Amino acid sequence: MFYELAASSWDKEELEAIKRVIDSDRFTMGNHVSAFEQVFADYHDRRYCVMVNSGSSANLIGVAALAFKKDRPLKPGDEVIVPAISWATTYYPLLQYGLHLRFVDVEFDTLNMDVSQLEAALTPKTRMVMAVSILGNPAALDTMQTFCDRHGLYFFEDNCESMDAELAGRKAGTFGDIGTFSSFFSHHISTMEGGMITTDDEELYHLCKSLRAHGWTRDLPADSPICPPRSDDFFEAYRFILPGYNVRPLELSGAIGLEQIKKLPAMTAARRKNLALFQKLMGDDNRFIIQREHGKSSSFCFTVILNPDCTPPRAEVMAALKEADIGYRIITGGCFTRHDVIKYFDYDTLDDLPNANKVHDQGFFVGNHPYDLTPQIEKLSEVLDRACK
Ligand SMILES: Cc1ncc(COP(=O)(O)O)c(C=O)c1O
Repeated sequence: MFYELAASSWDKEELEAIKRVIDSDRFTMGNHVSAFEQVFADYHDRRYCVMVNSGSSANLIGVAALAFKKDRPLKPGDEVIVPAISWATTYYPLLQYGLHLRFVDVEFDTLNMDVSQLEAALTPKTRMVMAVSILGNPAALDTMQTFCDRHGLYFFEDNCESMDAELAGRKAGTFGDIGTFSSFFSHHISTMEGGMITTDDEELYHLCKSLRAHGWTRDLPADSPICPPRSDDFFEAYRFILPGYNVRPLELSGAIGLEQIKKLPAMTAARRKNLALFQKLMGDDNRFIIQREHGKSSSFCFTVILNPDCTPPRAEVMAALKEADIGYRIITGGCFTRHDVIKYFDYDTLDDLPNANKVHDQGFFVGNHPYDLTPQIEKLSEVLDRACK
């Protein structure tokens, strides 16, 4: 395809890493995973990192950990403020732990939660804010963090789309009590499947480690704050303390992650160079609303919302992109309340979510990759210009 939606960032280093794991003959969670966790935590200046098998699992384990905290656990019926645009598995763990979702609209330009609506969304039952930085663009994480501190709320950052983004010199995914990341194919780093949970809280860290692996004590130190006093080693090897999961990562993922994270700064720089060209060509044209950068975006992809006053219906524009061999898709998951699965949720919305609905109906994105995309972006701009004359 001339302009792919998603592309691999692997090279010979990743293949050699796979070979090393094969030679070691240990395939499930071991030294490569723990070394990667340490490097990932250090990169983000966080005390702890737990790797799991996907970003979705990272969200699940993170929410579960908050529900099993000793003090002030999340409880069924508690309310969580969420943005109207995100990926489905931002929301599923909240449903699975019996929480009530309050959807808040996004800003039309940044595509992130409109934080001016936070006060209106607050009720006596609110316990948490779920922040999502959409497609590499940092949300107003500082404002949300202050709001959460002021009201005694947990602050959860689903940062699965925005690894290496920064706000005021601080990495996205490090503002919350918990930050989650994805290393799925074509994300900022790729282990094909993979997810990371970061936190500075020791109890949450130990809860995540236990919940990742059957809810047992085996991976915890003897003085862990969440462990009952140890009995004998024979029992301890199979001692279950939490209703957990098995979402352990493979050693292959840890080994590949170690190689990918070395390349992350250069890959983000290449993405940002492409972003600068996209902004130059598309930024000053009232037919197209492109994502306004807030802080320093790590630019997952390029979003366009068609201005209905002066562009043809989206289907026509998509047909022109298809003809030009350019990949495209809906922005993240669109407005989540428009999906059939919403019937299973306990939720309400602050208003009619006008911006999220417009993004759903008039928006699309094309890919950004960690190498030079000048010919692709120039062609995109030409095709859109012609299709919207
Ligand atoms: C905001 C957000 N959360 C969670 C996920 C899930 O990550 P994964 O695909 O690794 O399960 C994604 C996927 O891209 C996402 O965009």
